[in-house]
Formats: sequence, C-alpha cells, structure tokens
Amino acid sequence: MRHRIFLIGFMGSGKSTLGKILAEKLAFTFIDLDNVIEKLVGKTIPEIFSTSGELHFREIEQQALYQMISEQSVVIATGGGAPCFFDNMTWMNAQGTTIYLNCSVETLANRLKSEQGLRPLITGFDLEELKVFIRRKLDERSPVYHQCRLHVFDFNNVQETADLIVRALAIGQ
Ligand code: S3P
Repeated sequence: MRHRIFLIGFMGSGKSTLGKILAEKLAFTFIDLDNVIEKLVGKTIPEIFSTSGELHFREIEQQALYQMISEQSVVIATGGGAPCFFDNMTWMNAQGTTIYLNCSVETLANRLKSEQGLRPLITGFDLEELKVFIRRKLDERSPVYHQCRLHVFDFNNVQETADLIVRALAIGQ
C-alpha cells in the first residue's frame, strides 16, 4: 500500500471527519493541511487571507503540501482549493493515493452554512448565495477533483465509508 493518502474535495465534504477515522483504521497519522499552514505562518487561515491575500495563502499551501514528502503512513486532509493551484494535483497523484469526496451542492451548503466564519471564501453569504457560490466553484474545480484515483459520493456513514476505502486501497495494490 502507498503510504500517503490525500483526501480531496470541496469545503464541507467531510475530509477531516473521514480522514481521522480512515487514519485510525489504517494505523496511519492524520494530518490536516490547513493546520500545517497555520503552524508555518503562526496565523489562522482567515488571518492569512485578510493580511496577505489569497495568492500568498496559495503559495504557503503549496509549501505545506510539499513538506508532506517527508511524511510516511499518513492520511492528509487537503484544503478545498489545494489541488486546483500550481501543479498540486499532479504532485499528489505522483506522491500518494488521491481520494475525491464528491458531494452534492445541497449537502455542502447545509454543512457550510454554520461554519462560514472559519472559511474566508464564504463568509457573509446567505444560504442561496452560498449555493450559487458552491455551484460556480464546483464547476471550476471539478475537472481537477476528477483526476483523483478513487471517488466517494455523498457519504453518510463514516465508518462504512472508511472500511470501503481500506478495502479499495488493498485491491488497488
Ligand atoms: C479553501 C478551503 C479551506 C481552506 C481555505 C480555502 C478553498 O479548507 O484551505 O479556507 O479554497 O476551498 P477546507 O476545505 O478544509 O475547508
């Protein structure tokens, strides 16, 4: 089995929730790339966006991603935009197994409406505006997300989904 698993998907697709359980089942370490970025910079994600802007955030995000080369036996939850900048998606496909958590706009909007303060790209939207934003961004990002090796659609049961992934990973070797 390859030793780096990258979980990919839109904000609110459940990368951290599923990632922690998947890591437990594989006896891997769970890493949240946004946390790595916050430690690197010494600021929260909203602070980085507001003080330095998105482009700077994307540069640090790539730096944090590249650091993952020194990690073994890890499940990494990447930020929703991470695969869509620079050559990050190609890099992840070369360095590990990529898994796309594909979710419907409805599911994403319902999850995200209560968590907007933590995510600078969606702060201040009402539910309808949030759906419009998600639809537009998903259209833009989907071609990149679809380059992932495994796809999971709108999962409900975290344990069952993690079990399915463990089996799929074993078969793929
Ligand atoms: C972003 C997603 C966030 C975080 C940043 C930008 C995006 O991560 O990296 O706010 O561009 O979709 P999550 O997907 O973990 O929320």
